[in-house]
Amino acid sequence: MKLKDKLRDLSAHKTGLLATNYYNLETLHGVLRAAQQTGDPIILQLTQSSIDYMGLNTAVAMGREGLKQFGVEGWIHLDHGGSVELAQRCLDAGFDSVMIDGSELPFSENVKITQEVVQRAKSYGAHVEAELGFVAKLGQSHAHNGFTQPHEAKQFVEETGVDALAISIGTAHGFYKEEPKLQIDLLKSIEAEVASATFVLHGSSGVPESQLRAAIQYGICKVNLATEIKNIFMKTLQDILTQNEEIDLRKVFPKATNAVTELVKGKLDIVNNR
Ligand code: 13P
Ligand code: ZN
Ligand code: NA
Repeated sequence: MKLKDKLRDLSAHKTGLLATNYYNLETLHGVLRAAQQTGDPIILQLTQSSIDYMGLNTAVAMGREGLKQFGVEGWIHLDHGGSVELAQRCLDAGFDSVMIDGSELPFSENVKITQEVVQRAKSYGAHVEAELGFVAKLGQSHAHNGFTQPHEAKQFVEETGVDALAISIGTAHGFYKEEPKLQIDLLKSIEAEVASATFVLHGSSGVPESQLRAAIQYGICKVNLATEIKNIFMKTLQDILTQNEEIDLRKVFPKATNAVTELVKGKLDIVNNR
């Protein structure tokens, strides 16, 4: 199924779709085993840094083959695309979906760059996500957040024809110093204003379960998770390495991969409303 149709379908049923970032074969397989065990679909996403790290075609091939190998329904998505050129490279490489992140640009420039990517994505039949409002990036102050305004969201979606919109309702990338407070009333207003796009929650790591469930109940459909995956993978690896001197990496990595699987299974239960 096309990602756009899947998100619309799920959104109508007040259910979400988990979008997880992957960094290497181990984190990819950790995520895929979780989706295989729960039977849920999943979005596999790559940032520019992960693309640079693995190589574009290698990263896509790993994702595609992984979905086949584990028998999981899924889509490959560019996370936080910073330019039309990168989005174009990803479309050419066979991505199902691309995000163009103009969230730090003035409204009219964000509209312009998003229109350009929507136009290019058409002939590929690819799905496009944009961001309006600002969700603080890793290392940026959470005070930098700028909530999405419902009337602007309506205008933005009408002018761009974008499929999915990342909105700022109180999350931030990375972990939180203090528990986040998602603005569910704001989400409800955005949902009431904007009829023709689905909504994306960035910065889901560190968001308490009850707030994630509320966000999905009131209109969030795609839920982005990255930091918690990196964290559990590396913390588990660090523990193993301090405890023994095994040098066969094929014996060491699986424990960290399994930790990712357990984490993601828990998130899949939340996002799929179980
Ligand atoms: P976290 O790192 O907070 O999970 O956010 C992930 C994200 O939004 C990826 O786009
Ligand atoms: Zn994000
Ligand atoms: Na977060």
